[in-house]
Amino acid sequence: MEIKAGREPLLELRSLSKSFVEARTGKVLEVLSDVDLRIAPGTFTCLVGPSGCGKTTLLRIIAGLETATAGEVLLEGSPVTGPGPDRGLVFQEYALFPWRTVLKNVTFGPDVSGETRAGAIADARELLETMGLSTHEDLYPRELSGGMKQRVAIARTLAVKPKVLLMDEPFASLDAQARNAMQEFLVELWLRTGATIVFVTHSVDEAVFLGQEVLGLSRRPARIVQRFTCDLAYPRNRTDPGFTALRARILEYLKQELVDDHA
Ligand SMILES: Nc1ncnc2c1ncn2[C@@H]1O[C@H](COP(=O)(O)OP(=O)(O)OP(=O)(O)O)[C@@H](O)[C@H]1O
Ligand SMILES: [Mg+2]
Repeated sequence: MEIKAGREPLLELRSLSKSFVEARTGKVLEVLSDVDLRIAPGTFTCLVGPSGCGKTTLLRIIAGLETATAGEVLLEGSPVTGPGPDRGLVFQEYALFPWRTVLKNVTFGPDVSGETRAGAIADARELLETMGLSTHEDLYPRELSGGMKQRVAIARTLAVKPKVLLMDEPFASLDAQARNAMQEFLVELWLRTGATIVFVTHSVDEAVFLGQEVLGLSRRPARIVQRFTCDLAYPRNRTDPGFTALRARILEYLKQELVDDHA
């Protein structure tokens, strides 16, 4: 399938910096430094970088859950000033409501944003069908596997129709087999819906399997130091020479960041 990408960015970060002040010691911790990023609509972008470099902080600032110390986040040209349904965030933890069924977890967002109930339920059922969860709508989260729980979490996020889907290591707690299945599922979902996805991962293999572009962050304070274009056709084959060559290049950059860290 041809991927159409508009030229105007959907999401733009301009010279974004973030520092935390440690409450106890008053020490300033610089986490992000001058991050510039333009995300075109319909694109799939992966972010990789050393542990603790500021990836989650970056996504939380885009989501409006954290404020930047300097710089700005623009969504369709307007500054982001707080959380909103136009940005959906999926975490590593499933964060489902244990006392709500699958269907009621998915309708939670539309419920609170006041959409008509019948419409919200019909939309949620359609999403659950897309996710292969139609027969599970009356189950509770404790009755689901990890992969199913994460699909419910994605469905719940998509139910509020965000303009951009922000994913923070969403498959990190799954076993290798479930993780591969979820990666394939996400690629299909993205190809079908044309969603705009920003995906943080520790796994270079996952980034190369998913992204059209893989951005490499530096160690803290994080900046974007590498941009890898992945123009391999979807669905991708992990044994393809192009796949393994790109994976090796990204691993080399990460190794360099870690070496520098200990210098
Ligand atoms: N609310 C906070 N107050 C103080 N420091 C924080 C806060 N949130 C994050 N940090 C610090 O900011 C740095 C970056 O954290 P962040 O969670 O963004 O990194 P990360 O790249 O997502 O890490 P990981 O790879 O382990 O997921 C860490 O040193 C962390 O301790
Ligand atoms: Mg993180």
